[in-house]
Amino acid sequence: MSIFFCVLAVFGLAQATMGTVAPDAATFFDSTIHGNLTKITWVHAVNDFKKLNQTLDDESIMMVEADVVLGTVGNSSEIIPIMAHPPDNTSDLSLADFLTAMIKHKKKGIKLDFKTIEAFNGSLELLTKHRENMTFPVWLNADILSGPVDADTKPVDSKQFLSLANKTLPESTLSIGWTTRYGILKVIISGNYSEAQIDEMIKTVSNTSQPITYPVRAGLAAGDIAVWSKLLNSTADKNATLTIWSAEGDKVDVDQLIKLIQEVGYDRVYVDVPEKLRKQLAGSATSASISTFLLLSSIFLGNVLLANLLDFVNLNVISA
Ligand SMILES: *[C@@H]1O[C@H](CO)[C@@H](O)[C@H](O)[C@H]1NC(C)=O
Ligand SMILES: *[C@@H]1O[C@H](CO)[C@@H](O)[C@H](O)[C@H]1NC(C)=O
Ligand SMILES: *[C@@H]1O[C@H](CO)[C@@H](O)[C@H](O)[C@H]1NC(C)=O
Ligand SMILES: *[C@@H]1O[C@H](CO)[C@@H](O)[C@H](O)[C@H]1NC(C)=O
Ligand SMILES: *[C@@H]1O[C@H](CO)[C@@H](O)[C@H](O)[C@H]1NC(C)=O
Ligand SMILES: *[C@@H]1O[C@H](CO)[C@@H](O)[C@H](O)[C@H]1NC(C)=O
Ligand SMILES: *[C@@H]1O[C@H](CO)[C@@H](O)[C@H](O)[C@H]1NC(C)=O
Ligand SMILES: *[C@@H]1O[C@H](CO)[C@@H](O)[C@H](O)[C@H]1NC(C)=O
Ligand SMILES: *[C@@H]1O[C@H](CO)[C@@H](O)[C@H](O)[C@H]1NC(C)=O
Ligand SMILES: *[C@@H]1O[C@H](CO)[C@@H](O)[C@H](O)[C@H]1NC(C)=O
Ligand SMILES: *[C@@H]1O[C@H](CO)[C@@H](O)[C@H](O)[C@H]1NC(C)=O
Repeated sequence: MSIFFCVLAVFGLAQATMGTVAPDAATFFDSTIHGNLTKITWVHAVNDFKKLNQTLDDESIMMVEADVVLGTVGNSSEIIPIMAHPPDNTSDLSLADFLTAMIKHKKKGIKLDFKTIEAFNGSLELLTKHRENMTFPVWLNADILSGPVDADTKPVDSKQFLSLANKTLPESTLSIGWTTRYGILKVIISGNYSEAQIDEMIKTVSNTSQPITYPVRAGLAAGDIAVWSKLLNSTADKNATLTIWSAEGDKVDVDQLIKLIQEVGYDRVYVDVPEKLRKQLAGSATSASISTFLLLSSIFLGNVLLANLLDFVNLNVISA
């Protein structure tokens, strides 16, 4: 009897993500990240076959971000969903080939960034066809609201995006955010997401019950960190998380960003930023905890004792 239940339990555990359509990323990668979402690794703009092949060969990559637009492949004139970033509208990689490769591979999650509602609508047939074989995390991304700083890019229609996602792939994670205007090219080096923008998102997602991650731009997200707890708590029924992203060259207050991550919690924030910023985050987090340790130690122990303690620590490190 108990053996029977044991077997059932083990079987159940293995089934927890295997075979599940579009499982949650935290669950899918749990044996590697142990609940720390910042440990998830990313690759960007996998929009051609060469980069796709490199990505599939790299075991260290967990999540694969790629852009979907309508366009053509090779010399064909048929307009289909392809992997490309605007203004490009040709590629050697179609969404169909991209999905087939990821399904064969099985081990990585995907984040599909739809630049227009037409690109999303044009992709639904493929997503439906492959739905039951996508047994890895699937994030559907679009900027559905206008954001900071007075962003002028037209967002993807939120009502249509949410309703089509619900009908096509209700298991998927919605990665939905705001358009932004920031960075060296725009000569904007400060700004923040306003309460009004946060409230509009809370209202917009009120009828959806899919899991949600909000992509937020590092430099702007760190501009006012008080708004994030409210957003995440108000939409906690959707297991809401943040995904911090950054463009190359954005000005980012690293200390504030670390504070944001710590306040929101490592279990509620994905970090998908360029290598340089990622290293700064790792470096500052370490030096912050070392200086906190030294400060607390000196308060409680006094400097003489501290010197002895440090000797002791050093000796132990050397002998270990
Ligand atoms: C999460 O992972 C990051 C990156 O490895 C690390 O700096 C941080 O201390 C971890 N946090 C927790 C709470 O485990
Ligand atoms: C990518 O890999 C596929 C299958 O392994 C191969 O047919 C194709 O030539 C490769 N393409 C590039 C650009 O590396
Ligand atoms: C692709 O972009 C080029 C240049 O902007 C344009 O001339 C062409 O019509 C576009 N093709 C499609 C299929 O949209
Ligand atoms: C299209 O390209 C393929 C090879 O990429 C070639 O075999 C074919 O003849 C081309 N067709 C036209 C109509 O140019
Ligand atoms: C959505 O796609 C379908 C075919 O997949 C097409 O018939 C329809 O016109 C598209 N609608 C919009 C608004 O693009
Ligand atoms: C999904 O996977 C099954 C089993 O490997 C296969 O038989 C089926 O053809 C696949 N579906 C599609 C749309 O490729
Ligand atoms: C949510 O659903 C209610 C009832 O159907 C509707 O009145 C409301 O407009 C919807 N809200 C959004 C943001 O779609
Ligand atoms: C899909 O939409 C329906 C109708 O608004 C809603 O009841 C349902 O909870 C939604 N499902 C998901 C997974 O969002
Ligand atoms: C956020 O930006 C607005 C202007 O858009 C500004 O009034 C406000 O002071 C900023 N908040 C913080 C905390 O910097
Ligand atoms: C959000 O929830 C967390 C824990 O669930 C709590 O510590 C925090 O105070 C809440 N923040 C707000 C603004 O409600
Ligand atoms: C949130 O996570 C819990 C625990 O993993 C799960 O049971 C629930 O279905 C999830 N809800 C959503 C909306 O993803």
